Amino acid sequence: MSPQKSSDLEGLMAQLRAGKTYKGLELPEETLRDLLALELSRYKKPAEALKSARAKLHNVMAPYLGDLDYAQAAQELQAAFSSGPDAVKDTCRAFLQQHDSTRERLVYLEDFYKEIFAICGQPASVLDLACGLNPFALPWIGLPSGARYYAYDIHPPRVALITDFLRLSGKEALAEVRDILVRPPQVEADAAFLFKEAHRLEKRRKGCNRALWSALKVKYLFVSLPRRSLDGKRDLRERMRGLVADNLNPAEWEARGELDFPGETVFWMKRHG
Ligand SMILES: C[S@@+](CC[C@H](N)C(=O)[O-])C[C@H]1O[C@@H](n2cnc3c(N)ncnc32)[C@H](O)[C@@H]1O
Repeated sequence: MSPQKSSDLEGLMAQLRAGKTYKGLELPEETLRDLLALELSRYKKPAEALKSARAKLHNVMAPYLGDLDYAQAAQELQAAFSSGPDAVKDTCRAFLQQHDSTRERLVYLEDFYKEIFAICGQPASVLDLACGLNPFALPWIGLPSGARYYAYDIHPPRVALITDFLRLSGKEALAEVRDILVRPPQVEADAAFLFKEAHRLEKRRKGCNRALWSALKVKYLFVSLPRRSLDGKRDLRERMRGLVADNLNPAEWEARGELDFPGETVFWMKRHG
């Protein structure tokens, strides 16, 4: 990046943080820098780069998909763990209902993971990439006890609540605030989940999934994509197959397939070796 662009970037960081799109988000520095650097490479005028970065920030956070009141949710979790496993499941179910992708999945949650594990076997380690509220599905996922579950998201209050939940559940707290596009996790794992986010990542940076999928050190990758548009009117399957075909490097994966569920299609791939 030229010295002029670097200096523009520093100035725009402050403006991006001060704007109302950003308010209360606490997004990681790496995400803001990455967004601005990309927009500065696309636009000549810093003001245009800032405008475009703000629009992308809105898409990254997708406020329209729903969210929790994190302070209240933390208290509910504590109370549930004091009451017992049924209360914990009820509280997790209530959290999953707050977010579009997890709410939709509740209907077929157990089958979803059964079918996934029928492909990769019972994993001893899993990466949940851009996890959102999905970690609260752990009571239904049926991971073997002792399995390592790593969760990554860019929303710090979400990650803090997930960390509380993992600790209260007696699991290792392996949740992390991390932008998976800027720093793809390098942990070796049996499986990685990238659910309902790859198509939105493409809006941030076209073709970014190819580099992300390639960088992962996992035996199996499961990428789920929506079957229909948010308003339910358009069938998106062909478009999503295209996204997978464009981003999958066939030289890296020895087998692949699809699993169909009412709300999403899971595209899976198995690495060579
Ligand atoms: C639509 S939700 C998907 C949630 C989850 N994967 C599921 O299917 O239930 C998107 C989540 O991805 C997170 N996210 C978006 N971009 C990200 C990135 N580059 N790195 C890590 N997390 C990201 C958002 O903060 C949000 O929690």
